[in-house]
Amino acid sequence: MRTTFAAALVGAALFATPSAAPAAEAGAELMTRDWSFEGIFGSYDDAAAQRGLQVYDQVCAGCHGMKYVAFRTLTDLGYSEEEVEQIASNYTVTDGPNDMGEMFERPAEPNDTWPSPYRNDAEAASIFGKAPPDMSVIAKARVGGADYLYSLMLGYDDEKGMDLSPGNYWNKFYPGNIIAMPPQLYPDLVQYADGTEATPEQMAADVSHFLMWAAEPKLEQRKRLGIGFMLFCTAMALIFYAMNRRLWADIKK
Ligand code: HEC
Repeated sequence: MRTTFAAALVGAALFATPSAAPAAEAGAELMTRDWSFEGIFGSYDDAAAQRGLQVYDQVCAGCHGMKYVAFRTLTDLGYSEEEVEQIASNYTVTDGPNDMGEMFERPAEPNDTWPSPYRNDAEAASIFGKAPPDMSVIAKARVGGADYLYSLMLGYDDEKGMDLSPGNYWNKFYPGNIIAMPPQLYPDLVQYADGTEATPEQMAADVSHFLMWAAEPKLEQRKRLGIGFMLFCTAMALIFYAMNRRLWADIKK
């Protein structure tokens, strides 16, 4: 049954996603979690992603943008259209030019993508030394994915950072260990709508879950497609096998 074997290989390749890999150059082994989205049948946990959105919205969006993620896609996480409008309206986007040929600012709408609080990277870099990168695909762009984000959020060490020049912080998991992003997560920094206790670990896990969704919102569909394709290949293999036997049956006799 070589065909079935090949089909299984193709199927396996479809599901292979990089995850739980060691941190790039930093060398420190990443902290890992059992993410609900891992594995062939994995899917996002809407409650975790919604809590993650709360962290993103209240903390991370103060410095980072997500220029490829539109607010309207939040309905995938179980938000109503009204809630999405409400979330979007807290952000300001630049639009235009208007009738006078001028650019203007207005509250964001569901079709807008997450704006960066800075006009460009240069402006952001002038504040932090380095620009806060866009978060749209960060969970896929970094080795280790969600595990890396989770570890990074919890990897700060104030004592080791004491001797660093201002604006630099020591992080166990950042390649090279010296990062321009200040530590972000303190106990009870956000008040979760679902009453979950906002420990740094909880917030780090939730915001990583959210950013994984942002980077690959169609993960579940991709997995379903993969499973369908594998079933299809198996069915075809069985049919060919049966046909083959039929065709050769008389000749072999
Ligand atoms: C006060 C501004 C600020 C806030 C708030 C902030 N960041 Fe950052 N972030 C930065 C800066 C600056 C960098 C660039 C650091 C560097 O490359 O040295 C960065 C980089 C990052 C990186 C990339 C690290 C890498 O491997 O290159 C991630 C991931 C990240 N931030 C996640 C978050 C998350 C998640 C939150 C919210 C919990 C958050 N940030 C909140 C300023 C901020």
